[in-house]
Amino acid sequence: MSAIPALDPETFKRTTLNQWEKAAPGWNDHAPQIRAWLRMATDAMLAMAAVRPGARVLDVAAGAGDQTLDIAGRVGPRGFVLATDFSPAILAYAKANAARAGHANVETLVADAERLEVEEESFDAAVCRLGLMLCPDPLRALHGMHRALKPAGRICTMVFSTPEANPCVAIVMATGREFAGIPPRDPFAPGSLFSLGKPGSADELFRKAGFSDVATTKLQAPFRLPSAAAYLDFIRTSASPIQQMLAGLDAAKQVAAWAAMEARLQKFASAHGWEGPNELLLTAGRR
Ligand SMILES: C[S@@+](CC[C@H](N)C(=O)[O-])C[C@H]1O[C@@H](n2cnc3c(N)ncnc32)[C@H](O)[C@@H]1O
Repeated sequence: MSAIPALDPETFKRTTLNQWEKAAPGWNDHAPQIRAWLRMATDAMLAMAAVRPGARVLDVAAGAGDQTLDIAGRVGPRGFVLATDFSPAILAYAKANAARAGHANVETLVADAERLEVEEESFDAAVCRLGLMLCPDPLRALHGMHRALKPAGRICTMVFSTPEANPCVAIVMATGREFAGIPPRDPFAPGSLFSLGKPGSADELFRKAGFSDVATTKLQAPFRLPSAAAYLDFIRTSASPIQQMLAGLDAAKQVAAWAAMEARLQKFASAHGWEGPNELLLTAGRR
């Protein structure tokens, strides 16, 4: 998911956007695996954001809309979901998926999470699943969500915690960096996969953005798949930052990089398949 070369924030964002435009079909195709992986964490996120029947919910960096479908079901026909994302390609999947599921209460809006132009004080809840960490200026995104919420409206975001607690992501990124000849860098750099993973860092931003009753809950969400190869298939087709990192390599080097990743990920294989540890942080607050 996110690579952070030493680019200025706008160039970084343009590069990331291009990658998500390309990764959109892969992310959408892996909806069943993503759904199983994030099932419990998503239920917890929606409960913490108090997503209830009749609520108006802002879904930021909604991707192909997997969590949007859950929200639409929870708020029901009297409620409303606005699914936003900066990638028109991935958001088109969210729109199509909601229509296919028969949710007439979902609208989509192409929007940078750091420039949310939605009506002030118009939402009861805001959520952002695995998106806030990819924003080079997450405080700006949180200010926008704060502004969009009605007084006492609830927010909950989901991000990855530390590289140590997410060894598969860390292995993939470190191997990619090794093959691409990119020197090790601060894993908590803005816009990176682990940028909000340090204990307390999301809480601090939430408070700065004006939220109260801020609390973070740690949650284990192991990624269970048949094999390390299946995990890498997901990463190869859906994870924009690693694609970004390997893009400059010739075909043979790319093949070697993926083979090295697979060998290193074998340690999570067992007689029952493959289980990659994954730790998430759910940060909740109130306007
Ligand atoms: C890891 S995917 C998560 C998608 C979806 N929330 C899910 O959990 O299935 C990250 C999403 O964040 C979006 N994204 C990244 N940076 C963004 C930004 N600055 N503004 C809006 N969307 C952004 C990407 O386009 C992508 O859809």
